Amino acid sequence: MRTLLLLMLMAMLPSAGALELSSRHHPVGVGVPETMKLSEGMKADDQGQLACSTCHGVENLEKRKREDIEEIRRRHADDFLRGGPWKKLDDFCFQCHDEQPYQRLNIHVQLDEQGKPGEENCKYCHREVPDRKHPPKRGDLKLRLPVERICLGCHLNTPHLNAVEHSRKPEEEMRKRMAEAEKTHQIILPLGEQGQVSCVTCHSPHQKGVIDPGHPAGRQVAERPVEDGPDYQPSRWSPIYRADKEARLVELERTLGQPVNLDYRRLVGEVLMRLPAADGSLCRACHQFDD
Ligand code: HEC
Ligand code: HEC
Ligand code: HEC
Ligand code: HEC
Ligand code: HEC
Ligand code: HEC
Repeated sequence: MRTLLLLMLMAMLPSAGALELSSRHHPVGVGVPETMKLSEGMKADDQGQLACSTCHGVENLEKRKREDIEEIRRRHADDFLRGGPWKKLDDFCFQCHDEQPYQRLNIHVQLDEQGKPGEENCKYCHREVPDRKHPPKRGDLKLRLPVERICLGCHLNTPHLNAVEHSRKPEEEMRKRMAEAEKTHQIILPLGEQGQVSCVTCHSPHQKGVIDPGHPAGRQVAERPVEDGPDYQPSRWSPIYRADKEARLVELERTLGQPVNLDYRRLVGEVLMRLPAADGSLCRACHQFDD
């Protein structure tokens, strides 16, 4: 589901004059199947097809100018997408689409209501369930795939901007800073088999509480339930951020041959992170920023 969203939410290329929709925008002018029930307030057009007004509560949106869209969105916070504002875009999609087929098993939900781990989930990644109280040495974890590849069956290697650029081996200087951060924050920042930054360098694959919180591998940020994922707020700077990144992004997409998500929103709730990113702590574990 997320992948679909990411594909669709890619910023549209700016263009002067009439409103052009990005190729990633939701299809318009397609028939609504009989089996699909639209929620109240949403109507197909005379031909039973999706029109702009089916989803958007803005009159003549198709005739508006590109440069006015941000302002229109701000003024129509409630009905730019009908029934909004939507905290999670998925919920808007489920006004028409069935939720079930899109649900993927979130294997990071690992504790039951009693706080006990369900072992089936562990086995997606571990051939044998490791001892949580006395974690084995890294070489004895019996992971099904090397750490740097274990997330990629379910996630793209481009889950967000800058993930790909990060799969590099840190220089000596940075490795020293990482070792210091591991000590100061009592965390781990595990690298891939060739010493490169990988998903688990920044993310913990485990729900908080699976690994003893007194153990460095068990220390992590969990500001939200893992089921909910991280939370973002639209950023005031989004148009600027997008314009700034557009050229690099197009280039990156060409290189990768696949679309890349644009992170132009402000992070307000984090989960599965080894250190908080919103306040820069995570970044500073590796990077030194000049004031
Ligand atoms: C099936 C629902 C649906 C229909 C029909 C639809 N849209 Fe959208 N539209 C969306 C969603 C979802 C978004 C993404 C909203 C977001 O980013 O929060 C969106 C975003 C947009 C945006 C903002 C994106 C941007 O980058 O500026 C514009 C403009 C837009 N739609 C115009 C239109 C127009 C014009 C039509 C008719 C030709 C149309 N839409 C029909 C669902 C729809
Ligand atoms: C107003 C109802 C409505 C809403 C809201 C809606 N869709 Fe759709 N969607 C449709 C219809 C109708 C079709 C075309 C018929 C079909 O494929 O079932 C469709 C088709 C699709 C397709 C298939 C496109 C293709 O080219 O085959 C995807 C993917 C999709 N929607 C995703 C989404 C996502 C993601 C959202 C939320 C951002 C969303 N839809 C919101 C009605 C809706
Ligand atoms: C999505 C894949 C994934 C799942 C699911 C998963 N693990 Fe892990 N686990 C890893 C990876 C990768 C590492 C090595 C990096 C690290 O320590 O975080 C690891 C490390 C560990 C460690 C050693 C921590 C350390 O470094 O000292 C323990 C203990 C562990 N897992 C237990 C579990 C248990 C128990 C479950 C099920 C409740 C589970 N894991 C589910 C991927 C996973
Ligand atoms: C078996 C499939 C699977 C594997 C393997 C997997 N994930 Fe996930 N992950 C999911 C699903 C499903 C979600 C829920 C959101 C979604 O649908 O994208 C998710 C969500 C996340 C989130 C967002 C937080 C949240 O709770 O929604 C992060 C971060 C994440 N995964 C990191 C990782 C990392 C790091 C690895 C590798 C160690 C990994 N994942 C391996 C299926 C998987
Ligand atoms: C340099 C650090 C870093 C690396 C490397 C990294 N991420 Fe992330 N990731 C983040 C931050 C920061 C967030 C947003 C905060 C959060 O999830 O709480 C995030 C968010 C996510 C989300 C949630 C997106 C959403 O909006 O729901 C997923 C899924 C994810 N990462 C998967 C991955 C995978 C898979 C990899 C490896 C291919 C990876 N990340 C590599 C820092 C990183
Ligand atoms: C685990 C260490 C680590 C963490 C944590 C980390 N980075 Fe990086 N970052 C790297 C490495 C390694 C590179 C590759 C280039 C280099 O050596 O400088 C890189 C490169 C970058 C680049 C340049 C990408 C390009 O275009 O080449 C940016 C921008 C960046 N990081 C920002 C961030 C931000 C923002 C955060 C916090 C959310 C963050 N990094 C967290 C290690 C890290």
